Amino acid sequence: MNDNIERQRRKDEHIYFAVSQHNTKLQSQFDELELINDAIPMVNLADVDLAGEVAGLAFETPLYINAMTGGSPHTEKLNGQLAEVAAATGLMMAVGSMHSAIRDPKLASSYSIVRKNHPEGVLFANISADLSPIQAQQAIDILAADALQIHVNVAQELVMKEGSRDFDHWLENIAAIKEHVNVPVIVKEVGFGLARKTIMRLRDINVDIIDLAGKGGTDFARIENARRRDGKWDYFNDWGQTTAQSLIAIQSPNYVNMPYFASGGVRHPLDAIKCLALGAEAVGIAGVILAYLKEHDVEATIEWVEEWKLQMKMIAVMVNARNLSKLRKVPIVAYGRLKEWGELRGVK
Ligand code: FNR
Repeated sequence: MNDNIERQRRKDEHIYFAVSQHNTKLQSQFDELELINDAIPMVNLADVDLAGEVAGLAFETPLYINAMTGGSPHTEKLNGQLAEVAAATGLMMAVGSMHSAIRDPKLASSYSIVRKNHPEGVLFANISADLSPIQAQQAIDILAADALQIHVNVAQELVMKEGSRDFDHWLENIAAIKEHVNVPVIVKEVGFGLARKTIMRLRDINVDIIDLAGKGGTDFARIENARRRDGKWDYFNDWGQTTAQSLIAIQSPNYVNMPYFASGGVRHPLDAIKCLALGAEAVGIAGVILAYLKEHDVEATIEWVEEWKLQMKMIAVMVNARNLSKLRKVPIVAYGRLKEWGELRGVK
C-alpha cells in the first residue's frame, strides 16, 4: 500500500482507538498524591494568576493541547476544531507528527489550519526523532511554530507491526536538530514516561524542555495491540512509568534541573494542579479533550476548557497559592506504591 495512505489510515485508527479506550473514571496514580487543604488562604479567587513563561514561551494558562493529529482531510477538520478551542480559551497547542506533510506538501494544510485558527497562539510543531534537521525546520515553518516537539516512542514503535526497529542514532539526531532549528526544542514521550537517565542525556545536548508524557491515560501499547488484533503482546499494555512516578523521580536531589512539562493521563483540573505543584511548567492534555470534543461540539468544548481554567484557580485558592511559584512550594504527600517508588528512587 502507498506509504502515505497507510500513514493516514494509522492516524485515523489512533483516533478511533484512543477515543474508544478513553475512560476518565479509571483510578490513577495521581490519586496517590494529596494536596493539603488550607482553610484560611491569603488569596481571593479573582487574584489567582497562573500565567508563566518558559524558554521564551509565555502563557496565560499553564495548559496545552498535546500532539495528536494531522495528515488527512478528517484530521484537518479535527485539528481546526481543536485550534478553535485553543484560540478561544488561550491554550497552547501541539499538532501531531508532521512527517506526512514533509513528504507530501498537499497535506500541509491539515497542520497549518491550526495556525490559521489560532493566529496568536503558542504552537508546537511535532516530528519523530528520525527526521533530518532540515526537515525539522520545514515542520516548524509549516506551522510558524513557537517550539518544536520531538517525540520519542520506542515502546510504541516496537509494538507497532510496521514500526521502527533502529534507535541508536536518535540522541545524535536530536542534538543535530537542536543545533539547527530556530525555536526551543521539547522532547516528549507518548505515554510511557521519561526516566531520569534519559532526561540527563537530553539535558547534556541542550534540549530546552522535556515533556514527561507518562503512563495513565492514552496507552499506545494498547492502541497498537488493538490494531494488531492478535492479542499476542497484550502484556506490554502495562509498560512504562506513570506521569506521577516520572514527576516524583525528578524531585530527587540527584536530578539536575531542567524545565519540564507534565502530561499523560491528566483527567481533570486536580491532576493538572498536582503536576504544577510538583514543578511542571505547564500541563498537557490529549485523550481527555479529544474524547470530549468527539462527544460534543466546539462551543461545548470551549466551555469545558473554561471550567478547567476556573477550577484550577479554585484549587490554587484551596492550597493558598496565588501563582505558579507559590503553587510549586505547597506541600504534597505521596502514598502507597508511589511513596514506595519515591523511596526506591531516593526521593524524600
Ligand atoms: C497522540 N500522541 C502523539 N504524540 C506525539 O508526539 N505525536 C503524535 O503524532 C501523537 N499522536 C497521537 C494521536 C492520538 C489520537 C492521541 C490520543 C495521542 C500522544 C499524546 O501527545 C500524549 O503524549 C499521550 O496521548 C498521553 O497523553 P493523554 O492522552 O493521556 O492526555
